[in-house]
Amino acid sequence: MALPGGFLDELRARTPLAGLVGQRVRLTRSGRNWKGCCPFHNEKTPSFYVYENGFHCFGCGASGDAISFVMQTQGLGFMDAVGQLAASAGMEVPKPTPEAEAAERRRLDLFQVMQAAADSYRRRLFLPEGAAALAYLRGRGLSDATIAEFGLGWSGEGRGALAADLARQEIGVDQLVACGLMRAGEDGRPPHDLFFNRVMFPIRDARGRIISFGGRIMGEGQPKYVNGPETELFAKRRTLYALDRAAAACRTGATLLVVEGYMDVIALHQAGFGGAVAPLGTALTEEQFELLWRLSPEPVLCFDGDGAGRRAALRAIDLALPMLRPDRGLRLARLPEGQDPDSLLRAGADIAALLERAPPLADVLYDLLAETHDLARPEQRAAFRAKLDATAARIGDRHLGREYRSALLDRFYAPRPRRGAPRPARVLPVARGAIRPEEAAAERGRAMVAILLRHPDLLHDVDEAFGAIDLPPPLIRLRAAMLSWMDSAETLDSAGLMSHLNASGLAAEAAQALSAMPLPLPVCALPDSMPAEAEAGWWHLFGLMNPGRLEEEVEAAQSDFAARADSAAERRLVALCTARDALRRGETGPAPDD
Ligand code: UTP
Ligand code: MN
Repeated sequence: MALPGGFLDELRARTPLAGLVGQRVRLTRSGRNWKGCCPFHNEKTPSFYVYENGFHCFGCGASGDAISFVMQTQGLGFMDAVGQLAASAGMEVPKPTPEAEAAERRRLDLFQVMQAAADSYRRRLFLPEGAAALAYLRGRGLSDATIAEFGLGWSGEGRGALAADLARQEIGVDQLVACGLMRAGEDGRPPHDLFFNRVMFPIRDARGRIISFGGRIMGEGQPKYVNGPETELFAKRRTLYALDRAAAACRTGATLLVVEGYMDVIALHQAGFGGAVAPLGTALTEEQFELLWRLSPEPVLCFDGDGAGRRAALRAIDLALPMLRPDRGLRLARLPEGQDPDSLLRAGADIAALLERAPPLADVLYDLLAETHDLARPEQRAAFRAKLDATAARIGDRHLGREYRSALLDRFYAPRPRRGAPRPARVLPVARGAIRPEEAAAERGRAMVAILLRHPDLLHDVDEAFGAIDLPPPLIRLRAAMLSWMDSAETLDSAGLMSHLNASGLAAEAAQALSAMPLPLPVCALPDSMPAEAEAGWWHLFGLMNPGRLEEEVEAAQSDFAARADSAAERRLVALCTARDALRRGETGPAPDD
């Protein structure tokens, strides 16, 4: 069976599984998959499912791919099944050369070397020498069951310990070098261990065979992770950590999730998110996208909410655009700044809600692009529109590209921000009848009052800050009435607040606060604005008045979020960070209604 791996992948890709199975089993649609009565056991109600790249029977447990389907239903051997499928796919089976056969045998040997190394590392973790590593892993919240499932280990201190262990199984140093576990010594020095004093993470291929390792230093120190080099077994760009486990989980309905690190993946699996995978310390590659789409039509990529996360998200989308098709999409979830899934889980955050909220790609794409474009002047808007056009044009699938183009342009021409994430702020065009600094300050205060009149439920979150700002007398009267209403009202809704103000003789002050004079209010102070946007806009205005105090609020919200990580704490933190970022970009106010 010395077939090049690429040949089999190509063969599977060119063999639509539903078509093949459909020749033997009557299949009906089940969501994006197919189901029918299992050909491997007797049943009347269908429990046999066919996915893009595999089948699984929930009745008898039979599972496999196109090749094993042919083998099992026709009783053929592997090469015969491959031959038959290749013939129908119009492909020629490469003739195995003696060299190819030898290379394949060697590869099979190397898998065994890797497994033996993993066994050795795992054993050491539970010896006295591994005590600190075991304590480290447990201290990071991993259960013993998780440590066992992921096969985590302890490298030992190096100096040939691994080679000594494996020599007993007649594994030689040259094999360890070929596996990337030892490095050939330079200038006649002996080969030495690649991994020492590290916690070991076995990296497996899609079929669950160990192909490399990552090793983490305990605590601080550089480099934090060492990853195995490229070898005959391991190509980083074609590997996703935990893909084998995620594939199984996705078959039973888990969401396929792409995160950044080993620890994120493991923590997510432990918390029940079995569809998590990670690239190995590099940006996603085309090959990795292909692997993802074999498992799910819409994997969710998680990115940090900071600038680096934004750039990484754009880079990933940029790579994916030409490969998108109606059945190959993406969603993006942005995490609160400075958090990764591991830290969020430890803080008790609601990851499921975060994933559910991940907006469609077209929206994310628009927001990401809009964040780096000023849209105040016609020239800038024209340039941005051209950028939207060009972006949609990069989508390989023509029909889908057209749909993206119109979705992006809809956003561009939409009179109001869409639901969802806070809209990035635009620069307030102060030039409308140039105003004096005192007037600008008064207008900011008015906008802050207006936002709270529209979204009084924010009062609980901002009351202290609101009480502390300088306001002109009519607004001071409004504020006092709003804060006392907040203390007694049962529900904080805008209609209730307005009627309270009317009853308090403040109708004129309220109307003035909500008017478009002397300057238009920001979009986030309009009646149909979204709460998240309103909250971010409010803090943005607050930060313009009092930048130091905003930083304090951000810090307080961060520790509050770390402590109780519920959705209210998260919403507040996101709003504050959005505002702080807008200020750091030098924006002089939330987007005006123009
Ligand atoms: P992170 O620095 O985000 O680490 O790197 P992490 O996964 O959160 O790890 P912990 O929580 O500190 O243990 C993300 C990924 O980047 C790669 C690894 O694959 C890591 O999981 N990386 C990071 C390296 O390859 N080398 C490094 O030195 C650091
Ligand atoms: Mn981490």
